[in-house]
Amino acid sequence: MKSRILQMLKDSPEFLSGEEISRRLGVTRAAVWKAITALRNAGYPIEAISNRGYRLPAGTDILTEEEIAVSLRQAGLDQFFASVQFAPVVDSTNLMARRSAEQNAPDRSLFAAERQTAGRGRRGRSWLSDHQAGLWFSLLLRPEQQPASHFSRITLFTALCVAESLISLGADVGIKWPNDLVSAKSGRKIGGILTEMSTEDNRVQTLIIGIGININTQKFEAELASLATSVFLETGRMRMRSEVLQAVLRVFAERYASYGEDNWIRDYRSLCLTLGRVISVVPAQGEAWQGKAIDIDAAGELVAEDETGARRLVLSGEVSVRGLRGYFH
Ligand code: BTN
Repeated sequence: MKSRILQMLKDSPEFLSGEEISRRLGVTRAAVWKAITALRNAGYPIEAISNRGYRLPAGTDILTEEEIAVSLRQAGLDQFFASVQFAPVVDSTNLMARRSAEQNAPDRSLFAAERQTAGRGRRGRSWLSDHQAGLWFSLLLRPEQQPASHFSRITLFTALCVAESLISLGADVGIKWPNDLVSAKSGRKIGGILTEMSTEDNRVQTLIIGIGININTQKFEAELASLATSVFLETGRMRMRSEVLQAVLRVFAERYASYGEDNWIRDYRSLCLTLGRVISVVPAQGEAWQGKAIDIDAAGELVAEDETGARRLVLSGEVSVRGLRGYFH
C-alpha cells in the first residue's frame, strides 16, 4: 500500500486529501495515515495541511524500496526483476548480492543502497560511495548452464546500456574501453562497473554486475576533482536517482535478450572514446607499449596498432588513453 500511496502523491502536483486516498484504495483513513507516517520515517518530506491533505514536493530525490518499486512498475520492469532488495546503508551492493545468492536469491535480482561503506572498484580499488549523491546498485544473474565465456562481454554490454541511458538524460558521455563511463568533453569518469562471476565446472553460478554512477555530486574532494565528474556537473541538472536507475534498467532490460548476438558491438564502438586515440598499455606481464586503438572485435577485445604497425590485441592490462587533457586512465 505504501508504494501505491507514493505513486498517487507523485502523480498529484496538488494536495491530495486523506479521504480521497482512502476512497481510491478502499482502506481506512487511519491506514492511510499509518502509511504516510512510514513514508515520512523513510525520509519522504510529505507535507500535510489540515483540510487539504498531503503533498510530496516535486523532484524529491530519495531512494527507498518503495521508490524503486514505483520506478520499476512505471517502466513495466517489475516483470523483468524477480526480486528487489534495498538497504539505506550497506558495505557494498556487490557483497549484498553475493550474500543473497548464497541464500538462493533468484536470477535477475536487483540490489541497491543509498550509501556504501566499503564500495569496491576494479583492480582492488575502493569506490567512494559513502554518500547519497550517487547511484550504487548491483544486478544478480544466475544463468542456467552457460559457460563462463558466454559472459566475457557482459561488462562491455552493461557499459553500453549505462552510456545510452545517461545520454538519454542529456549527459554527453562515452565509454573508455572496457567499461568506464566518461565525459566526452573532459574525459573525467562519471561511472564504473565491477562484474564478479563465480563458476563451477566452467558453468556460471552467479554473475554480479555492480554499477556506480555519480549523479548529483557538485564538488569532488581534491584528489578526485580532476578525474571525476557527475551527471549534475555534465548537464547542470539535478536528477532523482530513481529516475536514473529506471533509465539504466530500461535500456538493460530492452537489450538483454540480444546480448548473445553481435549487433550491439556496433553501438558500443560508436560510443567508445578509446577508438582512434593513442593508447598506452601496461600489461600485467611484459613490457609497456604505445599504439593506436583501431577496433573492438566481436569478442569485445580492443584491437590496436603498435608503433611498428603490427596489430595487437589488448586483452587485459591497464590502458590509458591520450585525450584532450593528457592521458586519462
Ligand atoms: C570501477 O572501478 O570503475 C568500478 C566501480 C563499480 C562501483 C559499483 S557501486 C555498486 C557496486 N558495489 C560496489 O561495491 N561496487 C559497484
